[in-house]
Amino acid sequence: MEILIETERLVIREVIPEDIDGMFELESDALVHQYLGNQPIKTREESPGRIEFIRLQYIDHGIGRWAMIEKETNNFIGWTGFKFINETVNGHINYYDLGYRMIPKYWGKGYATEAAKACLDYGINQLKLNPIYGIAADDNSSSKNVLVKAGFTPAETFMHHGILHRWFNFQ
Ligand SMILES: CC(C)(COP(=O)(O)OP(=O)(O)OC[C@H]1O[C@@H](n2cnc3c(N)ncnc32)[C@H](O)[C@@H]1OP(=O)(O)O)[C@@H](O)C(=O)NCCC(=O)NCCS
Repeated sequence: MEILIETERLVIREVIPEDIDGMFELESDALVHQYLGNQPIKTREESPGRIEFIRLQYIDHGIGRWAMIEKETNNFIGWTGFKFINETVNGHINYYDLGYRMIPKYWGKGYATEAAKACLDYGINQLKLNPIYGIAADDNSSSKNVLVKAGFTPAETFMHHGILHRWFNFQ
């Protein structure tokens, strides 16, 4: 399997069908969805649909969210990376959104920030992605912290799917 990015503690690669259990652990957790405005999945049978949704991004746009693997355990810990946004969000369209979502037992270790920085380096220098933006629910301080630590600058707030969000410009 092709490794896209390797950091000190993580491997970042494509999401694959074999990620079914990790994806279920991630997408069924209510805490993960606290600020996302959608519902966690309830059964393992729904997990392949989440994987296919991401893999369709690779086919449609040549890029999509990637799996984060903890090197020490080889565990799937969440997803990160870029999604091509081809619908208007806060007046912007056709841009690359940097995002991340991790299983809660992996929070508080610096993994999301480590991954975000590595994705930006790879996205800018290897893939030449432009423009790159980020968004987070304005109440989601953990997510906003990751964006700031990765080099984004907070900008205006805007409503997105009925939730107040903060827009982040990259540099
Ligand atoms: C957003 C999310 C990924 C952030 O996770 P996180 O664990 O807070 O972020 P990081 O992995 O970068 O870890 C940062 C924390 O690890 C701590 N940390 C511990 N060891 C560390 C190390 N070796 N290096 C760096 N930071 C370390 C930092 O101090 C920081 O904690 P603090 O904020 O209390 O100071 C996580 O909350 C999540 O998955 N939420 C659900 C999905 C979601 O909301 N996604 C964003 C949608 S916009």
